[in-house]
Amino acid sequence: MATDLPGFLAEEDGALVGLLLYHMGARGFEVVVLLSLQERAGVATHLLAQAEQVARGAGCRRLWLVTTNDHLSAIAFYQARGWRQVAIRRGAVAEARRLKPEIPEFGKNGLSKEDEIEFELALGDPPPNHGIQPTAFGHG
Ligand SMILES: CC(C)(COP(=O)(O)OP(=O)(O)OC[C@H]1O[C@@H](n2cnc3c(N)ncnc32)[C@H](O)[C@@H]1OP(=O)(O)O)[C@@H](O)C(=O)NCCC(=O)NCCS
Repeated sequence: MATDLPGFLAEEDGALVGLLLYHMGARGFEVVVLLSLQERAGVATHLLAQAEQVARGAGCRRLWLVTTNDHLSAIAFYQARGWRQVAIRRGAVAEARRLKPEIPEFGKNGLSKEDEIEFELALGDPPPNHGIQPTAFGHG
């Protein structure tokens, strides 16, 4: 369940203004939940910067997440922060709704919620010989 996941809180003057929950696995650092309660004030940017720091520290090659086609502000936000769309799974939400009818048919803005979009932030290749000590030859 999402609430068992590790994450970070953003607070301002003791009040909660944002939340990020993540999962680190074989596919990299997944941002499972990102929520800003004080929009367009840099809260989500700050949380993602913390996430990137943890991901880099853990040796992850990428951060990734899945959102849906109706989350227009999230789509604009990730692209503005340098994330790229790497997959669109057409009809994936409609498919999930067959098993979970409680998934709403429309987003807050009235758009039909149908497709999943995967975004990623690549963290670049590790340096050459990362973690490998060169072998010394020819001594003596
Ligand atoms: C998407 C979300 C996380 C962004 O959080 P935020 O704290 O407002 O983001 P920041 O203040 O760090 O960054 C804002 C930047 O994102 C982009 N952005 C955010 N909302 C936007 C919108 N509606 N239209 C265009 N650009 C937008 C802009 O580049 C904006 O910078 P600007 O205000 O200088 O133009 C927030 O809107 C949110 O919590 N939405 C509801 C939950 C959600 O959709 N979560 C993600 C699901 S995967």
